[in-house]
Amino acid sequence: MNLSQAILGVNFGNPTVLASGIMGITSASWKLMAKHGAGGITTKSLWLKEHKGHKNPTIISTEHWTLNAVGVPDAGPEKAREEVGDFLKSHPVPLIANIIADSVDNFAATAEAILPLKPDFLEVNISCPNVEDEFGKPFACSAPAAAAVTKAVKKVSGKIPVFIKLSPNVDSIAAIADACASAGADGFTVINTVGPGMAIDLRSRMPILANKVGGLSGPGIKPIAVKCVADVYGVTKGKLPIIGTGGIYTGEDALEIMLAGASLVGIGTAVGDRGMEVFSKICEEMQLWCTNEGVDEISSLVGGMHRELASRSGPQKKNRTIPIL
Ligand SMILES: Cc1cc2nc3c(=O)[nH]c(=O)nc-3n(C[C@H](O)[C@H](O)[C@H](O)COP(=O)(O)O)c2cc1C
Repeated sequence: MNLSQAILGVNFGNPTVLASGIMGITSASWKLMAKHGAGGITTKSLWLKEHKGHKNPTIISTEHWTLNAVGVPDAGPEKAREEVGDFLKSHPVPLIANIIADSVDNFAATAEAILPLKPDFLEVNISCPNVEDEFGKPFACSAPAAAAVTKAVKKVSGKIPVFIKLSPNVDSIAAIADACASAGADGFTVINTVGPGMAIDLRSRMPILANKVGGLSGPGIKPIAVKCVADVYGVTKGKLPIIGTGGIYTGEDALEIMLAGASLVGIGTAVGDRGMEVFSKICEEMQLWCTNEGVDEISSLVGGMHRELASRSGPQKKNRTIPIL
């Protein structure tokens, strides 16, 4: 049973990828994730200049969801360059450098600052819902804004594939993906956190997070992530790879989002809940399911739901002839 995936010329030993923002921004922690079976690593969002996050408390978790308003803190490009550079020296698994910025021009400038390190992919975070107080609505909430960022980053990215990280918090994620695809996106990461949401402490009658609101992640968002991946796969006709992310905890979750259209699977909140062994556990669970079902190549499952729907609806419609008895 082969779990490996070649995506845009980059080989992933298995489809699991550490999602952005999880496990800090050090080469040592990324190497540890790779050692525990992660097929790829995504960095925390990198800014052009040092950026301070929100005040504590920034995270609250239940077994069903996590609400975070970390606020995308980053030590700045020097530190990031050091850590990314160190990881890429040994390069145990592919590295996806995630960037964030407050303007179209700064997205391009941030990409230019990181690209000389030669990450395998660039992931463009236009969808963080918990920095709205500082920067207004995310670029991912408007098709023209999302397309403008895509175009600006593609102009400087050379041969490095550009994945645009989309938001579920929109009327039509398909319309946003379509605009980004027309602007040259090479792939998508689907989804960033949901909301924002709020949790209130009964005693103090105050929001629990200092930022009042935060982005929702964890098991409760998986059905939204699966639907968003299916929509993006549908509008791009399966031609652009998708990193399906949101509430993936088990091998069966991973296979489900792959059937919706994901080629790779982002693992975020689950790392806190199942431990860093989550990557190897998910791989074992996928292996077991595929062996039992007689699936030899994991890649054969990508977008499988769309093919199944087409095979069931297409011929039936066409064959609506009255049988000759
Ligand atoms: C604590 C925390 C920090 C995050 N930081 C980032 C970030 O810096 N950049 C980004 O693109 N996404 C960030 N995310 C979003 C995750 O990468 C992911 O898209 C989201 O949490 C859904 O996946 P999950 O349910 O597996 O966590 C963060 C999520 C969490 C929980």
